Amino acid sequence: MSITSAEIREKFIQFFEQRGHQRVPSASMIPANDPTLLFTNAGMVPFKDVFLGTDKRNYTRATSAQRCLRAGGKHNDLENVGYTARHHTFFEMLGNFSFGDYFKTEAIEFAWHFLTQELQLPAEKLWVTVFEEDDEAYDIWAKHIGVPEDRISRIGVKDNFWSMGDTGPCGPCSEVFYDHGPEVWGGPPGTPEEDGDRYIEIWNLVFMQYNRQADGTMEPLPNPSIDTGMGLERIAAILQGVHSNYEIDTFQALIKRSADIIGVSDLSSKSLRVIADHIRSCSFLIADGVMPSNEGRGYVLRRIIRRAVRHGNLLGAKQTFFYQLVDELVKLMGEAYPELVEKRHIIEDALKREEQQFEKTLERGLAILNDEIKQLSGNTLNGEVVFKLYDTYGFPMDLTADIARENELVIDEEGFNAAMQAQRERAQKASQFGVDYNAQVKATTKSVFDGYTEDKAQTTVVELFHEGTAVESLEAGQQGVVVLANTPFYAESGGQVGDTGVLLANQGRFEVTDTQYIGKAIAHHGQADCTIKLGDAVTAEIDSERRANIRRNHSATHLLHAALRDILGDHVQQKGSLVEAERMRFDFAHFEPLTKAQITELERVVNEQIRKNVRLTTQVMNIDEAKKAGAMALFGEKYDDDVRVVRMGEFSMELCGGTHVAATGDIGLFRITHETGIASGVRRLEVVTGAAAFEFMANQQAILNQLTADFKTDETGLLGKVDQLQSKYRELERKAEQLQQKLAQQAGGGLVQQAVEMNGHKVIVAQLEDTEAKALRGIVDDLKNQLGSGVVLLATAQGSKVSLIAGVTKDLTSIVKAGDLVNQAANVVGGKGGGRPDMAQAGGSNPEHLSEALATATSWLEQSFKK
Ligand code: ALA
Repeated sequence: MSITSAEIREKFIQFFEQRGHQRVPSASMIPANDPTLLFTNAGMVPFKDVFLGTDKRNYTRATSAQRCLRAGGKHNDLENVGYTARHHTFFEMLGNFSFGDYFKTEAIEFAWHFLTQELQLPAEKLWVTVFEEDDEAYDIWAKHIGVPEDRISRIGVKDNFWSMGDTGPCGPCSEVFYDHGPEVWGGPPGTPEEDGDRYIEIWNLVFMQYNRQADGTMEPLPNPSIDTGMGLERIAAILQGVHSNYEIDTFQALIKRSADIIGVSDLSSKSLRVIADHIRSCSFLIADGVMPSNEGRGYVLRRIIRRAVRHGNLLGAKQTFFYQLVDELVKLMGEAYPELVEKRHIIEDALKREEQQFEKTLERGLAILNDEIKQLSGNTLNGEVVFKLYDTYGFPMDLTADIARENELVIDEEGFNAAMQAQRERAQKASQFGVDYNAQVKATTKSVFDGYTEDKAQTTVVELFHEGTAVESLEAGQQGVVVLANTPFYAESGGQVGDTGVLLANQGRFEVTDTQYIGKAIAHHGQADCTIKLGDAVTAEIDSERRANIRRNHSATHLLHAALRDILGDHVQQKGSLVEAERMRFDFAHFEPLTKAQITELERVVNEQIRKNVRLTTQVMNIDEAKKAGAMALFGEKYDDDVRVVRMGEFSMELCGGTHVAATGDIGLFRITHETGIASGVRRLEVVTGAAAFEFMANQQAILNQLTADFKTDETGLLGKVDQLQSKYRELERKAEQLQQKLAQQAGGGLVQQAVEMNGHKVIVAQLEDTEAKALRGIVDDLKNQLGSGVVLLATAQGSKVSLIAGVTKDLTSIVKAGDLVNQAANVVGGKGGGRPDMAQAGGSNPEHLSEALATATSWLEQSFKK
């Protein structure tokens, strides 16, 4: 084979290494610390801050092969994959970068040298474009390099001004094109035929000069810089002498493997291209810590997996196939990307699970949809049904649309939107209880929270609300809300519930049943037994015992979070938590149920940290510093510039505004009470600490005590006793079966007397009551022995199940076959049977026809003997 993709990748990197560039390994496809970007979509993404001048490296030239994803977000190619020769979700971008080091001349020289000398591409096959106003770049190409002017085009902003996203580094660019030859239709860049496939862009050189602001203004960068990107797949296509990217080595290997697994032979199918593309993006996404889910990146991943599975179905895949491709991918790309090898099993498991789940979704959804289509009178699919399919059954909308199209139906969009709106309203209602103060009133106070250190504070009433409106006073017996200047009450946030307690005024008290934020005001909800007025001095006092339990549970979430990551891996991400006084609940991303052993290990690790009795420290610091120091932040959560960092020794460090114990020893004891899955890829642990953990164990002990008393043994003897009991039970079961058999034989014993003569042969046809089907065989054997020569047909019915058995002594099998006989009867009771000529069995499901069945078999037998 000509040069492989792996060899091209290495050649490129080495070329730039030899020219003073630092080799930088591919970064994750999840951009670190960049909320403006869904995925790494270009080689420059990991260097964004270096271009902006906010990050410094100890090199000014770099080169990389960066894994990129263009699905969702600004650069999205998902829907094109499979339909064109060059679109991918996942691709590799080869690049060289200069951070205020060289600029246009060297960048262009490097590119030209690499293409024409290192890769030996004929110069006359190369075309270039420059930004229309960039005379400098034009001259470098024309005069310095010597590219004929009829092969240089000036192009506008749309194609020759590159930006990473709506904001961030950007600049004019210059692109190199390759001419695939006259047999392919298309024209040079800038001509009306440019969208054809003949002239293909292979390398983009960006002259980074600006930082685009959200309002569109262009701020100059501290230093003019270089960012280049060459798609590995495109250059490989050229060097391997093929036209489509899907014909290069890596894709061909994946396509062949997919075809093998699915069992198709036509390698040119669009669906195979889709699958080959998608296995790359999905595997790398999972390797980079994304799990299929219903939001954000996880949702993009889920959509790609489902698209791949659908294309597998179109090809007729009979079994879960997608995950089986990981093996081939690891062979192809594992050496360049060690994370693939490392995460291989996680990738396979997650893909398999998602695929299986989606198959169920498809099956169920298709059944509902087909039913709906069958009973449809017009040509419009009910919008409510379509919404329900999507919302309740997770059936993909695009699939419903496809199927509608195939059946020449339209979807009632109005009905769909109405159903969606109604669902939104329902969800909103469900999340409110009582008056939604945040929606109804504006509190102006920014309350000071004293509760990190104090349980009690002297303070004044600054705002009052009753039934959703601001008031001057609350009367005795009225429900309402009190806002204080400062307060030790914690308002529900970050998963921690609000405090309860009491506000003591001179004239009486206000019982606080809950504390919530209204804007930035801490709002005490409750009821007074006296009049409370604006300006009243009160003593605010929380329920300290309840809060102490909340603290234990909150600190325990941090320890648990750290322990989970230690034990299960870094893909564990907190998805939510509820910290109450009685218990806490912690939701996190993980793809399979925890084993009992893992749960015990978590308990062991957390309790060890508790026994260390590490002092807990908190520190307010800048968000970036905090993240740099390694503090765990919740993905997607908005943080202020200054954040509070809660640390428990070396073990845990998290951004958190909640209240915590003074030292881990205060938690006392930690026990996990439940482990469940709450959504695909999300597990939930329920935990008790302190006195509640003791009570949990005391309950378990009580059960144990009861068992040891019942079994009359101690704890160590318990397992042995249970074993003994089980074997005794099995033995009794066996005995009972034997007895049944005996009883049945006795029942059969009387049958010999019922034998009738038929053409000189002895025949017994009988229906037995209360006889197990299993016993029939033994009875027939017995009867055959007793008859010496003859035919037996027995039946029994239990519930709706009929069992039939026929026996024929050897001397008669040439006249009557047991199988034929038993089937005569079985036919009538809706069954079928088989066996040997001397013994055959059958089942059936219509006991009400059993007598008729036996009669039919009897007359058939008579006929047979007469022949
Ligand atoms: N960042 C440039 C691109 O993605 C090189 O095309």
